[in-house]
Amino acid sequence: MAASLDPIIALTRDGMTAVNSIIVDRMQSEIDLIPQLAGHLVASGGKRIRPMLTLASAMMAGETPEAKANAAKLAAAVEFIHTATLLHDDVIDESNMRRGQQTANAIWGNEASVLVGDFLFARAFELMVETGNIHVLGRLSNASARITEGEIQQLMIAGKPDTDIDDYLSVIIGKTAELFAAAAEAGGMIAGGDDALNNTLNNALNNALPNALKDYGMALGIAFQITDDALDYDADETRLGKNVGDDFAEGKTTLPVMMAYHDGDADEKAFWQRTLGDGDIGDGDLAHAQALITKHDTISRSLAEARRHAEAAEQCLAPFPASPARDGLMEAARFAASRAV
Ligand code: IPE
Ligand code: IPE
Ligand code: MG
Ligand code: MG
Repeated sequence: MAASLDPIIALTRDGMTAVNSIIVDRMQSEIDLIPQLAGHLVASGGKRIRPMLTLASAMMAGETPEAKANAAKLAAAVEFIHTATLLHDDVIDESNMRRGQQTANAIWGNEASVLVGDFLFARAFELMVETGNIHVLGRLSNASARITEGEIQQLMIAGKPDTDIDDYLSVIIGKTAELFAAAAEAGGMIAGGDDALNNTLNNALNNALPNALKDYGMALGIAFQITDDALDYDADETRLGKNVGDDFAEGKTTLPVMMAYHDGDADEKAFWQRTLGDGDIGDGDLAHAQALITKHDTISRSLAEARRHAEAAEQCLAPFPASPARDGLMEAARFAASRAV
């Protein structure tokens, strides 16, 4: 059966109700445009996968009852960081569809989107401070810096389909996987641990859990972004809620293109150079790019690569005893590499 988020959704249902009300509460401001713009994006849904990872990770680490409220704050902070980066990302990528709706930048313009993104970042830090845990604050601050580094490094490789695979990996680790890693690790860090868990796990294993969650989130995040890059050339737009072809229009260097360029003949390399490289894109060029991608089978090859990382993510949690939280997290990793949304 196809991997789904259903187990982790069921597991975190109560916690996510709390998280969603924190999100709505903390995006409020006397400046009307802020809740209006943020509310547009928040109300259009989103999978909420990162906060669910935080909550499930806290459960897996045997969260104390006192830790529950803090885990919800932390999860809301993680979703705020994600939401802020989406607002900024859609400005940078000049995207006009997100979650099946017009993007905020398409409706309110770039300036308002960037500023509301900044506001949500600041709200995320307030929430983290409220948890009183300086270590999770440090962890998520670092992840926020890494997101921006990844987005900037992405500018450096844009239009260069002959980019080294290590540079591509470095970009997607920064812009996407670091937040997944921090979301999972921070859940493990905030949990507080309990005696029941210490009885079932030996201490060495228990202490190793936050690190294992970090490695799990990192590998899941890499799988998630490679899949996203494949979907950008080959997806059901209505289901995905985003436009297919945005990455091509933006000259983004992503795995399906890098593979097609590498395996292409001189004519094909010249095509990628003119379009992705020089930004000279006309009618029919996206269709031709997709035809070359099909010719070299680079969607399935990219997805195979994503699956490899998803399996690595699962392996990070395999040494720990089976539990609904562990198993839900493991299935979420498989979902990351097989999703259509
Ligand atoms: C989109 O993330 C940005 C990427 C890292 C690819 P999601 O696919 O998690 O977006 P939502 O929150 O579900 O809309
Ligand atoms: C996602 O990159 C990374 C961040 C949002 C930081 P993309 O540009 O591929 O994400 P989508 O496709 O717009 O969601
Ligand atoms: Mg984008
Ligand atoms: Mg994308």
